[in-house]
Amino acid sequence: MPTVNRGKDRALEFIELFKKIAGDDIVLADEESLHHYAHDETENLHFLPGIVIKPRTAVEISKIMVICNQHKIPVTPRGAGTGLSGGALPHLGGVLLSMERMNSILEIDERNGQVITEPGVITEVLQDAVKEKGLFYPPDPSSRGSCFIGGNIAENSGGPKAVKYGVVKDYVLNLEIVLPTGEIMWTGANVLKNATGYNLTQLIVGSEGTLAIVTKIVLKLLPFPKHDLLMLVPFNSLEKAGEAVSAIFRAGFTPSALELVEINALKIVSRFVDSTVVPVTDEMEAHLIIEVDGNHQETLMSEMEAIAELLLQYDCGDAFFADDAQQKAELWKLRRRVAEAVKIDGYSIEEDTVVPRAQLPALIRGVKALGKEFDFEVVCYGHAGDGNLHIRIKKPGSMYSLDNPDVIPALSALFVLVKSLGGTISGEHGIGLVQKAYMPIVFDEAGLQLMRGIKKVFDPNHILNSGKIFDH
Ligand code: LAC
Ligand code: ZN
Repeated sequence: MPTVNRGKDRALEFIELFKKIAGDDIVLADEESLHHYAHDETENLHFLPGIVIKPRTAVEISKIMVICNQHKIPVTPRGAGTGLSGGALPHLGGVLLSMERMNSILEIDERNGQVITEPGVITEVLQDAVKEKGLFYPPDPSSRGSCFIGGNIAENSGGPKAVKYGVVKDYVLNLEIVLPTGEIMWTGANVLKNATGYNLTQLIVGSEGTLAIVTKIVLKLLPFPKHDLLMLVPFNSLEKAGEAVSAIFRAGFTPSALELVEINALKIVSRFVDSTVVPVTDEMEAHLIIEVDGNHQETLMSEMEAIAELLLQYDCGDAFFADDAQQKAELWKLRRRVAEAVKIDGYSIEEDTVVPRAQLPALIRGVKALGKEFDFEVVCYGHAGDGNLHIRIKKPGSMYSLDNPDVIPALSALFVLVKSLGGTISGEHGIGLVQKAYMPIVFDEAGLQLMRGIKKVFDPNHILNSGKIFDH
């Protein structure tokens, strides 16, 4: 999609005021910076902001918001720009608020098993820091080596560990936020239970930067499990692999990861990272990656053996056990880099469907039928244990989904299918810009009106990431 040029951006009129707030070096309006912040990882979309501001404190953000609110200047908050639904795209121009300088872990509270952090900390950096104290922050999006914890909160991110440990919302205890009107406040308390009024903390989680700007985050931590085991199982049929997923839970197991990768995705990512660790043959259609974790190695061994035995009923090949840390890392590298690899291979449009786990085979069947009907190449991978299937679509000449007459009918049919299976259109990537047109498929007007009403209470002038999730 070509860069949109809207003429002189109104945010530029206030550049001297913004510079006064925290100094010249946090406010940027040069071409290179504007282009750098014009895109995230969503398809090939590109929108220039008017200016970029990189604040360091909640007080600076509050002062910026007061100016923007008074003059109705759009503000788009941004983490690391790894999002896949366009949440950080400054599609209305205005101020792009990059949280990258608010990158300190403020306190690891070992006694209470909590961490207090700023939003611009890289998720993996946070995980490593708490791991040094024997503590565990499980949510692990594939981009955890580069994404920010603040962006994870905005999107209510998941990742492979969600199947056992839950998603980001299950760990957020309290948030410091700046409202679009400039007030700075805490949403709750640093406690494990809280029945005190509306749950403002959880309202902010997953609100995609449309209600408030998160400036401090309090997360719950767990003890780090001592052991984990990992295996990769090939299947001759993609659908059978899907059937095996719910059988694992029905048999009483809760893996710490249960991921599915269709064979084409595996071939593409193996080439991309130059790995030959997984041999592929023509009969295979998909692999399951299965991890178990806990504190007793023998228990894990016997669980893994029992799962491997069970899977024999689903037309699988020989399981490959990752023997050591290096093999585990290699397998996880392959899985985590699928999205990047298939995008470069031309599968530029990504969907984030989620259905009740036992409907996974029906979803897979339906997706393949729709691919044929609309003449798209489709590849599936994702968090099968959660029923959360990422569907990547390639159609030569169609690089993006927004306003694209080739793509819209196919995505509408996909989402109608997902809804008919009892599912919804995003499990962990959010709605942002690229899915908002499809919200009426999964929400009736009463639901959308409630959301618009909530937005208006927080942001009466519609300045904060407006036009994301829904239009007002
Ligand atoms: C993944 C990201 C794309 O699962 O959510 O790889
Ligand atoms: Zn994912």
